[in-house]
Amino acid sequence: MSPLGVAIVGCGNISGQYLRHLVTFPDVRVLFCADVDTERAKARAAAYDVPAAGSVQQALDQPGVELVVNLTIPAAHAEVASAAIAAGKHVWNEKPLAPDIASGHALLDQARRAGLRVGCAPDTVLGAGLQSARRLISAGVIGTPVSALTLLQGPGPESWHPDPEFLFAKGAGPLFDLGPYYLSVLATLFGPAAAVAAVGRRARGTRVIGSGPRAGTEFAVEVPTYMSALAEYAGGQAASLLFSWDSPLSRAGFVEITGTAATLAVPDPNRFDGDLRVCRAGETEWTVIPSTGAGAGPGAGRGIGVVDMARAIRRGEPHRASGEMALHVLEMMTAIERSAAGSGFEPVESVFDIPAPLDQDWDPHVRAT
Ligand SMILES: NC(=O)c1ccc[n+]([C@@H]2O[C@H](COP(=O)([O-])OP(=O)(O)OC[C@H]3O[C@@H](n4cnc5c(N)ncnc54)[C@H](O)[C@@H]3O)[C@@H](O)[C@H]2O)c1
Repeated sequence: MSPLGVAIVGCGNISGQYLRHLVTFPDVRVLFCADVDTERAKARAAAYDVPAAGSVQQALDQPGVELVVNLTIPAAHAEVASAAIAAGKHVWNEKPLAPDIASGHALLDQARRAGLRVGCAPDTVLGAGLQSARRLISAGVIGTPVSALTLLQGPGPESWHPDPEFLFAKGAGPLFDLGPYYLSVLATLFGPAAAVAAVGRRARGTRVIGSGPRAGTEFAVEVPTYMSALAEYAGGQAASLLFSWDSPLSRAGFVEITGTAATLAVPDPNRFDGDLRVCRAGETEWTVIPSTGAGAGPGAGRGIGVVDMARAIRRGEPHRASGEMALHVLEMMTAIERSAAGSGFEPVESVFDIPAPLDQDWDPHVRAT
């Protein structure tokens, strides 16, 4: 299989994690780094031996680039992805897929018409942790899955983030910033949701920056910082979900799947691996089960979804972290927000195919044939 040429667009905070992994995967070749700040793109390219860097337009004009890895800020996701598709490139977007449902739909329609692909983070669902959970569930270890409980709570990021305003602005908050990790796990295990309901709260109308040169600056909180949601899945399962930045107590990465025979605690959905824990009916203690598979350990991380997409493009097969699943997650979050602003259940209508599990010996570091 010949490697797929890739350009990184958006060379900020998260691009280092992507580049660190992507340059070690033989089925992709990073050819270009781009950013509105071209100096930043050049610095990233130099740090990871990427041969060229510059503007977004230069990335799209670069010979050999077949896929754009779009790591810009959420407000720019749809616009950058649409430009890439218009230039004939496949796209991998960081989450969320788009700033709103309409632009998410438009993006997928544009790609479909052009015969191009859209993939989307999080690719943590392809990590050893969740893939091991899928294997345990398929083997019948928890019986029939019936419900899920997820918790993400803490005081919020303004204490450590030097420019936290965007995290408390429309389109963000704990639901949109961290919800994709939790909702993508449940999407992978349960399939599409059919309806959601939620209660939203905002403990404080303003917050204060806690670090960096602007420490002490007060800013407005535009979105709910506590969101408690219920989800009904088309397959019959139910979930209780909490996303809160209004809690002095920090508790993140909590995802439990309860079945008729046992409860399974999966690793933090913002990580690629970690131990699983099972508590069977009649037992009071957890049994710890390490996650397994070639994706376990330090070598796997952000970017494995791009490798899966590159291989799928070459083989003409569906890629796993699909734009359709990401659109569904975006629709769920939007419906949760709408329910919290009004009352009652909101329908969720989009659908997607649950991606096939990865083989236990799947390895992004070995060239595919
Ligand atoms: N930082 C993290 O820990 C983290 C983790 C997981 C996912 N993400 C996601 O990754 C994405 C990027 O986050 P980040 O923390 O790296 O943000 P960032 O602000 O550090 O970097 C974004 C970069 O995109 C560039 N950019 C913005 N608009 C652009 C445009 N129209 N064209 C070209 N470049 C543009 C900016 O100049 C900046 O360099 C977000 O969607 C975020 O949700 C971030």
